[in-house]
Amino acid sequence: MTQASLGESVAQKAIHAAQNNGVSSSFTRTQPLWLLAEVTYRCPLHCAFCYNPTDYDKHTQNELTTAQWIQALRDARKLGAIQLGISGGEPLLRDDIEDIVIEAKKLGYYSNLITSGVGLTEKRIQAFKEGGLDHIQLSMHDITEEINNFITHTKTFELKKKVAAMIKDHGYPMVLNVVIHRYNIGHMKQILEMAEAIGADYIELANTQYYGWSLVNRSQLMPTKEQVDEAEAITNEFRAKSGSKMKIFFVVPDYFSDRPKKCMNGWGEVFMIVTANGDVLPCHSARVLPNMQFPNVKDTDLGWSWKDSPAFNQYRGDSWMKEPCRSCEEKEKDLGGCRCQSFLLTGDAEAADPVCSKSPHHHLIQKAIADSENPALAAQPIVFRNDKNSKKIIAGEFKELVAEFHALP
Ligand code: FES
Repeated sequence: MTQASLGESVAQKAIHAAQNNGVSSSFTRTQPLWLLAEVTYRCPLHCAFCYNPTDYDKHTQNELTTAQWIQALRDARKLGAIQLGISGGEPLLRDDIEDIVIEAKKLGYYSNLITSGVGLTEKRIQAFKEGGLDHIQLSMHDITEEINNFITHTKTFELKKKVAAMIKDHGYPMVLNVVIHRYNIGHMKQILEMAEAIGADYIELANTQYYGWSLVNRSQLMPTKEQVDEAEAITNEFRAKSGSKMKIFFVVPDYFSDRPKKCMNGWGEVFMIVTANGDVLPCHSARVLPNMQFPNVKDTDLGWSWKDSPAFNQYRGDSWMKEPCRSCEEKEKDLGGCRCQSFLLTGDAEAADPVCSKSPHHHLIQKAIADSENPALAAQPIVFRNDKNSKKIIAGEFKELVAEFHALP
């Protein structure tokens, strides 16, 4: 999954998917709808745009056990969660996903495996089908082998095509996620044609949002405004021509909007993330925020974590806001944007999201857009997501790459 996937629309998708699956939808705003289980940070791919924390290497040795995951699923379902995302890293690196799927089915979740496809075999997909997995979302990267292999730092192009066919053969809807960046944005039409040719039912064109590794690599990944506009126009044209057979979701990148997104549909409103080591977070990036203590399922009740923990209440609602958000007539619509983006770019988690044109820090976004026109910045070496680089980041290296923002721990 990408950060882009967790916008406003996803909560609605979760509700509809669950309703279509016969799951009770008598939810209230005081319960989570989505449980995202980031079951591992280990990954065979090394994507330059990965939203996982840059210091993920701290969390690869203390993953939750199968029994702990099953307990977390039960506890979250009691709280009201109805949609389960099984994500990573690459979740298929764990050999207990089949057990997690069976338990999810028993509990009445609508379950979604979010995968690169690496490790998805006939045997495993058969087991997922029998166990009641509802949905598989496959990441694709480009129509060319060259870009696929470059941006993931792997040789996975042919494998992804095979996995896509396998998913279709097993009767799953074909759901593709393609992260869009400077290296593939020029291939928008061909990406859509490829998706149509392989029988995709749904494709998410997730323009890169800048968190984690993608923030470290922002200068190299960020397309120009002209490229984004052209990509959106091509998508609209394709949509108009191809009709409604394949649903196309174009996620507009934050940096090119003048108002921020209501991140996670509101802090502590519908999403609960349990990380590989058991931390319970309101959003993927929350651990970048300073002076916050996040509960952990190993030693804390999930109900308390959701309802009463200081971390989940820190940015719920709007009482934490300061100007210009406090008196803004649009504050309920976007809740001041993304707390993590505010902190990463301004050093102040309570500042208005700099994406907003009313933010006193909006010039930071304008500078990033101006910098996207500078080929020398785009040509800097990419820091690929891998254990070695994560260790280096933990040790304080690469700081010069992101000197103008607070991207690193
Ligand atoms: Fe937006 Fe954390 S990622 S609030």
